[in-house]
This record gives sequence, C-alpha cells and structure tokens, in this order.
Amino acid sequence: MPYLLLENLNWLIDAIIGGLAKSKGEGVDTVLARLAGQRRDAAALVHPVARSLPVTHYLSQCIAETMLLDARLAAALAAVEPHLQWCRSIHYTDALLGEGFVANYGWCELVGPRGFFPGEDFLLGLLMLGPGRHYRDHYHPAPELYWPLTSGAEWRKGSEDLTPKSAGSTIWHAPNVVHATRTQDKPLLALWCWTSDTATPAKLVAQA
Ligand SMILES: [Fe+2]
Repeated sequence: MPYLLLENLNWLIDAIIGGLAKSKGEGVDTVLARLAGQRRDAAALVHPVARSLPVTHYLSQCIAETMLLDARLAAALAAVEPHLQWCRSIHYTDALLGEGFVANYGWCELVGPRGFFPGEDFLLGLLMLGPGRHYRDHYHPAPELYWPLTSGAEWRKGSEDLTPKSAGSTIWHAPNVVHATRTQDKPLLALWCWTSDTATPAKLVAQA
C-alpha cells in the first residue's frame, strides 16, 4: 500500500508538472523550478492522517470536471484523494467570512508539513470552496500560484475587479498582494503553491 501511494503521488505530481509546463503564465517557471528540486522518493514519504471536511462532499464532482481539463491529472487526483488530510485555518470563521463559510472551505497539502513530502519552505496543495462563497481580500508574504482545475470562480488581485477564470488558467500573486476568490453556482477545486516565505499565514484585510 505505501508503495502504491508513492506511485500515485508521483503520478499526480508529474501530471501537475506536465499541466503547468504547458502554461506560459507568470510564476509558473518558479513553481516548476521548486518542484524540480523537491524530493519525492520513498525515504521522504510521510503519511498524514487522512481527513475529510464538509466541503469535500464536492470533491468527486470537482474531480469529474477536472477530467475535462486533464484526464491524467483527474485520474491521479482520484487515486490520491482517499489519503488527503483536509484542513481549515482556525482564524477563518463564519463571523469573518459569512454564514456557512467554514463548512464550505478547506485545503490540503501534497508537499508541506501536512502533506506527503516535507518541503523546504515550499508548499503545494489543493483548495476547495463550495458554491456561493467569497474568500475575501487577504495577503501573505509567500509568492503564490493558483491553478483552478474547475471553471466558474472569480479572482481578483490588487485593485482589479473580480474576474472569472477558466479551468487551467494560472494566477500569480506576488508577495503581499491583496487577493480574493469568489464562487458562483459551482464549487471550486484549485491547485495552490507557495514558493517561499511560507512561515507566515495568510491574513484577512480588515473590513471597513
Ligand atoms: Fe493566497
């Protein structure tokens, strides 16, 4: 079983590298360079305790949609999905982010302290948001890439308006750029990556 998990994780990360390599988006080269230096051999493998969250109710639907973007990636996600440890920030509450947000939000790490391979100041994971949610303006020192695997969510950074991004787009956030994500009628599954300065968590912008 551990060997099969390792094989599936490497299948998934290879699919991520292959998918991102087709993108010419800002920041992709930085992510690919970090991934190229990431250990993912048997000796580096750890086993986070698998955990689902209410939002992962939408995961199979999102993986099915990911097949439209990249069937190999979707198949690898389905293989690894039972082993993922889904987490939430304890600082994100319904009082801050809207009634029902906590039950409609979650993230996991593939690489990182909660993932399968410890990264060296490098995090790679998945984010989920349920339909009709607004992950409002926040920022962090880590440079960040998002790669939505499903369509329909709106994204903004800086003073931009919220703009729909299709599945397979790449979205790069330079350090401390304020950014937000809003879903409409569909849940969102996105890959995310912090390429450095990972020790400081995201902070919500105080509401006026
Ligand atoms: Fe972010």
